[in-house]
Amino acid sequence: MKQNRSGFSFRSLHLSLRFVLPLACALALLAYAAVPLFDGLTLRWFSRDLDMRSQLISSTLQEPLADLVQKGERLRINVLIQRATQDERLLAVGVCDTNNKLLYRSSLFPKAITCTSHEADAKDPLHLIRLPQGPVHVVTSPLKYEGISIGSLMLIHDMSYVERRSADTRKYIIILFVVLGVVISLITVLVAHLSWQGWMEGVRAMMRGEGILRPFSQPASAELQPLVGEMRTLLRNLESERRHADDMTTTWNPAALRALLNKQLTGDQVLVVSNREPYIHIRTDQGVIVHRPASGLVTAVEPVMRACSGTWIAHGSGSADRETVNRHDRVGVPPAKPEYNLRRIWLTKEEEQGYYYGFANEGLWPLCHNAHVRPIFRSSDWEWYQKINQRFSDAVVREAHGDDPVVLVQDYHFALLPAMIRERLPKATIITFWHIPWPNPESFGICPWREELLQGMLGSTILGFHTPFHCKNFLETTDRYLETRIEHESSTIFHGGQLTMVEDYPISIQWPPAWQGTLPPVAQTRVEILAELNLPADHLLGLGVDRLDYTKGIPERFMAVERMLEQHPELVRRFSFVQIAAPSRSALEEYQSFETRVHALTERINQRFSRDGVPAIILKAEHHEPDQVNRYYRASNVCMVTSLHDGMNLVAKEYVAARDDEQGVLVLSQFTGAANELHEALIVNPYHVEQTAEALYQGLVMPEYEQQERMRSMRAQVKDFNVYRWAGRMLLDAARVRQRERLAARIGKLP
Ligand code: F6P
Repeated sequence: MKQNRSGFSFRSLHLSLRFVLPLACALALLAYAAVPLFDGLTLRWFSRDLDMRSQLISSTLQEPLADLVQKGERLRINVLIQRATQDERLLAVGVCDTNNKLLYRSSLFPKAITCTSHEADAKDPLHLIRLPQGPVHVVTSPLKYEGISIGSLMLIHDMSYVERRSADTRKYIIILFVVLGVVISLITVLVAHLSWQGWMEGVRAMMRGEGILRPFSQPASAELQPLVGEMRTLLRNLESERRHADDMTTTWNPAALRALLNKQLTGDQVLVVSNREPYIHIRTDQGVIVHRPASGLVTAVEPVMRACSGTWIAHGSGSADRETVNRHDRVGVPPAKPEYNLRRIWLTKEEEQGYYYGFANEGLWPLCHNAHVRPIFRSSDWEWYQKINQRFSDAVVREAHGDDPVVLVQDYHFALLPAMIRERLPKATIITFWHIPWPNPESFGICPWREELLQGMLGSTILGFHTPFHCKNFLETTDRYLETRIEHESSTIFHGGQLTMVEDYPISIQWPPAWQGTLPPVAQTRVEILAELNLPADHLLGLGVDRLDYTKGIPERFMAVERMLEQHPELVRRFSFVQIAAPSRSALEEYQSFETRVHALTERINQRFSRDGVPAIILKAEHHEPDQVNRYYRASNVCMVTSLHDGMNLVAKEYVAARDDEQGVLVLSQFTGAANELHEALIVNPYHVEQTAEALYQGLVMPEYEQQERMRSMRAQVKDFNVYRWAGRMLLDAARVRQRERLAARIGKLP
């Protein structure tokens, strides 16, 4: 049943009638019982009143009347008693002799009454005699002359007015009860309606998980308070049981992800927004080539998009990007066999400088990484950041087919985007994933636009980080700088009418790897790579794969190599460390000087430890396509990931995935998200050069059986916790939030 325009619900009317009808019956019964009670009461009051009046009249008449009766002055007696009856209520007066004979009587003296009439009613304390014309009140008092009884005086009061008044009173009582009934009913209906609304709000909020998995949008009404705790526990248990069941029973792969989308998010369109595009078209002398960027984000999200189809919106940064899109700026990708759409957004050099290089990479990037590089915040960069976020938001709105798409917002380039999209598409499910760490509140607090950034992010339905620690930092930061309601227990934030679930979703890579079953055996690749590097066939290889970024701990790694060679001179000329370093953000001074430092360090170490043309460090500071990188993974004895701070670091997982021979050792920084999952790696503090050097050495001399055990266990972890599970968990959570919201909306519309 519908709600009328004023929002009044007929359900609350029905509900109210259930109270009103019994209430009306109870009131009628009360009135039925109260009227006779009231009648009796008023009769007693009036009769007592008449008793007193009669006493007064008889004592007034006593003396003159006794005197006249004694003298036998009949005429004067009649005049006296007639005058006495002029009192409107005194109906009649009679005088009896000692033999109870009526001697004198006023004109209206009722014939039915005799001098002994009152004796029949002597026991009636009300002195009432009922006559055909109505009830009368009869009081007889002795008439004495000089102390001797000479008869009696009868005073008869008309009591019909009492009946009249009683009837009036009855009428008023009934009116009173009716009015009372109506007023109570109205109040009941109103209260029931308001309570129903409040209750429904509460239930709706609970269905959305507010106050249960997150705080209430409005505090639960008093009646609901006792229920909230129960509901909270119940829903949380159900939630975790369901999640656990999903996690355990589902083998996460592209098919499972597709099935989830079809089943749980039927008809919902998936849009991804990131700065970096998954395929970059570049013009070269040989023509247009397609480039796969060195990006953890792209590595993770691309297989998800292939599974889900939909549209990926990203900055078109390649020199041939414009010539490869259609008139809607879209191009089907992967280029060889398109599975989803890439929608490109164009930026001028100035825009890219302000939004990407400036605010995102000189401000937010160092702000979020503890790599001891000072963040730079410029108002002009902030302006660009806002404008470009708006541009991407416009693109999302244009690309959306309906009003409730699922939008996956990627990374720190788009902190403002969730709120911007939310404003235009209030029903959208916005899942924001922050690919880099989130700092503590003090560190984040130096950003001049911290409140705006937080508010922007809180437009998200779900906000994902790699680790529970980053979630905790985010909750604390929000708590510090915004007026929000936070439920730490369930990791939820309520702010400005929007509810955001903050969860950790450790990102991963696709499994099985794309190349599975298509590559030559590891031993063969190893021979080929060593030959390409002009190294002997039994040479030991260490490997690093990173963007040339100061957060990756490349110098620290090189220093560990140096230290290891110092401590184990027998490995000089027997070991080389290959560093694949993809140029990154080279327009920034910080990155230029970092690159210079890395080159200088390589040169210095090589000068010390290169022998017979065998370098200690081989720096390959150029772009490598994923298949090339994969060959190096397979050929190396040890892979070193020594980030000073890293959200996850997918190189660690890629290395593990590449080693289907179950050999190879991973040296992994304790400051990466991956260290939370890959426990069988050799975990190091990259700031501790000796410790890292020792781990490298241990890796190089580790027996094969131990390598196998460690690698097998890590592979099982990456296999189970692959990128489809990462995306699947977020989409499942999103689906649940949507279902909960739809259900809550439906409950509100029920009759
Ligand atoms: O770590 C954050 C991140 O966005 C990664 O996802 C990715 O590896 C890297 O930065 C890419 O940086 P950029 O897009 O600036 O080259």
